[in-house]
Amino acid sequence: MTTRPRILTGDTPTGRLHLGHFVGSLENRIRLQRDHECYVLVANVHAFTTRATQPDDIRRDTIEIVRDELAAGIDPEQSTFVVQSEIPAIAELTFLLAMLIPYSRVMRNPTLKAEITSKQLGDHYSFGFPLYTVGQCADILAFRANLVPVGEDQAAHIEMAREVARRFNQVYGDEVFPVPEPLFGRVARLPGIDGVEKMSKSRGNAIYLSDSADEIRKKIARLYTGRQSTTEPGDPDNVLFQYARAFIPDQDHVRELADRYARGADIGDGTIKAEVAAAIDALVAPMRERRAGFTDDAVLEILREHTRRANAVAEDTLARAKAAMRLDFGPRRLSFPDIAPR
Ligand code: TRP
Repeated sequence: MTTRPRILTGDTPTGRLHLGHFVGSLENRIRLQRDHECYVLVANVHAFTTRATQPDDIRRDTIEIVRDELAAGIDPEQSTFVVQSEIPAIAELTFLLAMLIPYSRVMRNPTLKAEITSKQLGDHYSFGFPLYTVGQCADILAFRANLVPVGEDQAAHIEMAREVARRFNQVYGDEVFPVPEPLFGRVARLPGIDGVEKMSKSRGNAIYLSDSADEIRKKIARLYTGRQSTTEPGDPDNVLFQYARAFIPDQDHVRELADRYARGADIGDGTIKAEVAAAIDALVAPMRERRAGFTDDAVLEILREHTRRANAVAEDTLARAKAAMRLDFGPRRLSFPDIAPR
């Protein structure tokens, strides 16, 4: 029996992982996986909230995101991947928790509201779209997680999970759910290469963990600072310096560069761009190398094994929750055989 505190976190598979994912949550997962029991969820059911007509893309993105996590340093011996669609207890728990959250509370969730605006969903979104916020509470609570490493954009969802955990324990007793704590990344908001919006795939402004050295150099070269000469005082908080602070290991050196930059002391953007590109490449080069070792078959093999581990935990939680709700009508006999070839 392990007594390590539990982590659950995850991502909606929408494409490859980028530097925003890395500084927001991924580096915390990698750092904490050794002394925590770490569950890394792939929210492939949530992907259907806005892409229900693209099942092939969602399947490909699901495998791709796990490959990216493995390449980045998630150790499949230490951490457990959770493919959301393979864990029936999550779906059941979503339905049960939905009874404890007022509808109006869901619709006031600021992250949900921001998504409706940014994705221009108007009032055309599916019923399942707002439901995903309750689903996210179930993801976290199904694993009785203590800690949830996420980017700050997820704060509202973690707050909902905390509320529903407290409410469940208060109504049904038994302290079934720990109240989970969020853990935010060291960079609050990483801008994309447009220098304005948050880095995201949908805005086309991302540097991917799988980008080549050449792609990285080209993307960094395109960063716009508006500066005309090496003696023009520059803004030491512009996107270039935000990247320098996020990715150059020697921060004394970055402070020195920022100081010269602000004074316009004969320092060109090109010099700093070269250093930033080299630092980012040094971070992702080992990931590029490791990625090659994870074929589709290798990834699927890991997912099958991890699905077994994940279901053992989530089924145990569901049994406790149902017992607390007086829904314990005899033993549950689900089995999870290996998928037979069709
Ligand atoms: N909503 C998160 C995102 O899009 C993904 C997610 C789903 C998640 N369930 C979670 C994150 C549980 C943390 C915990 O990035």
